[in-house]
Amino acid sequence: MKKEKSLLVICLLVLQLFCSSLLAQVNKKGMNEQHRPQVHFSPQANWINDPNGMVYYKGIYHLFFQYHPYSSVWGPMHWGHATSKDLVHWKRLPIAIYPDSIGTIFSGSAVVDKNNTSGFGKNGQVPLVAIFTQHDTIGEKAGRNNFQNQSISYSLDEGKSWIKYAANPVIKNPGLRDFRDPKVMWYEQQKKWVMSLSANNHVEFYSSPDLKNWIKESDFGEGRGAHGGGWECPDLIAFDDNGKQRWVLIVNLNPGAPNGGSGTQYFVGDFDGKTFTSNQKDTRWLDYGPDDYAGITWSNTGKRKIFLGWMSNWNYANQVPTDPWRNAMTIPRELKLQHIGNDIFITSQPVSELSAIQSPPVITQNLKVTKSLAIAGKTGTLKFPCSINLDAAAIKDFTMVLSNEIGEELLIGYDAKQNQYFIDRTKSGKIDFQKNFAARHVAPRLIDNAAMKISLVIDVSSVELFADDGLTVMTSIFFPNKPYNQIHIQSAGGILIKKLEYIQLKSIWP
Ligand code: FRU
Repeated sequence: MKKEKSLLVICLLVLQLFCSSLLAQVNKKGMNEQHRPQVHFSPQANWINDPNGMVYYKGIYHLFFQYHPYSSVWGPMHWGHATSKDLVHWKRLPIAIYPDSIGTIFSGSAVVDKNNTSGFGKNGQVPLVAIFTQHDTIGEKAGRNNFQNQSISYSLDEGKSWIKYAANPVIKNPGLRDFRDPKVMWYEQQKKWVMSLSANNHVEFYSSPDLKNWIKESDFGEGRGAHGGGWECPDLIAFDDNGKQRWVLIVNLNPGAPNGGSGTQYFVGDFDGKTFTSNQKDTRWLDYGPDDYAGITWSNTGKRKIFLGWMSNWNYANQVPTDPWRNAMTIPRELKLQHIGNDIFITSQPVSELSAIQSPPVITQNLKVTKSLAIAGKTGTLKFPCSINLDAAAIKDFTMVLSNEIGEELLIGYDAKQNQYFIDRTKSGKIDFQKNFAARHVAPRLIDNAAMKISLVIDVSSVELFADDGLTVMTSIFFPNKPYNQIHIQSAGGILIKKLEYIQLKSIWP
């Protein structure tokens, strides 16, 4: 009897082991297809675009996103939902907000209503409140000009379920075809909520005591910055600049980005609770590459400003050759101010939490590159995804070539004559799904230090270049027919690399 019992226990243990490995397989299912990002958030299936409602609450980063649950092309928008404790590993959750008779759910933001200004909290509960655009497709088709209105929804269970406010919409459209993407923040000096909202070619600011009643405060943007297309997804953020408050307005723009299509510009300035002002004369971009759009920052993260973008471009987002999902997010990035002369710029760097998936670096020092040099990992071979950090002693031309055995390649480098960084995906693999995809994209170097530092985050189908400590950033996606498995550094004139770090990145999917 005793023998039979232990046999049963062993059988049960084996069964448990089998089941848990089966579950791990199921969880991972679909997360290792060709081109599937391994260190970036993407949905298991179907279409995503903008990050929405990013809010940090009780140790959890919430990420909502524009989601079409029934198709891998854009359609009636819902808010998908995922959460993370470390900004790196993501747990996918059920759809958070569904369309209703007012419209589908376009982009927006979410806040922690600590003081229960909205009154949605009962018995001391802290409500999370989401503020978003509702897009009335029927109104749009009928040719009306008031089909985008702002609504709110609240959650009393830390973001799990959402209840729409009965008196939606809270801001009615005054007659503008593009009137959307509310980003809300708490303005402590005047104890009120402030919303930035995109309206055709400018941003409008609204304020509210309770997230339900809003008044218009001012406009910003006509004749300022880039206007090659409509202004979308604004974000007004306050930075602490050694005790002085500095305000930055992020404005997404489509089309009209420096390398075509969608892009993210920013203005450094001041805000007095009513009006945003900026003396900035030039146009500045958070990312010069083609594939970082609709980015905004998490709310409720204190002095830390964490930005996330959609890693695609409206020029071809609906056509990229991936299945069964379409599109992904960038690596979350920490934004900081950088003073250069009398000017202030914004730098972006991958969040330090990325260390959770970094293997120990393989470091090589004082590398003289003449012609071509292969980068190798620990075992002599190279594994993707990975990070590369490179410190060069002087400012010289160089190219990093990511390649596979069928001759497809992606070029990343610096052109000293033009003083430009570049990413060239003309021979990167699948390129003909859209006519402008295959291109060489460039970005200016904005500082003239005698040394150069670049960091790359390279996933299966994307690269993010952070040059000069994140002053110039470029994001680019690519679709090789066979995975890239080699990286070479080339420099016709020769370059001395003081330090080269190769860091293998572990997949974020279980
Ligand atoms: C930006 C955008 C937003 C809009 C959403 C619709 O990519 O066009 O302006 O709210 O996408 O999905």
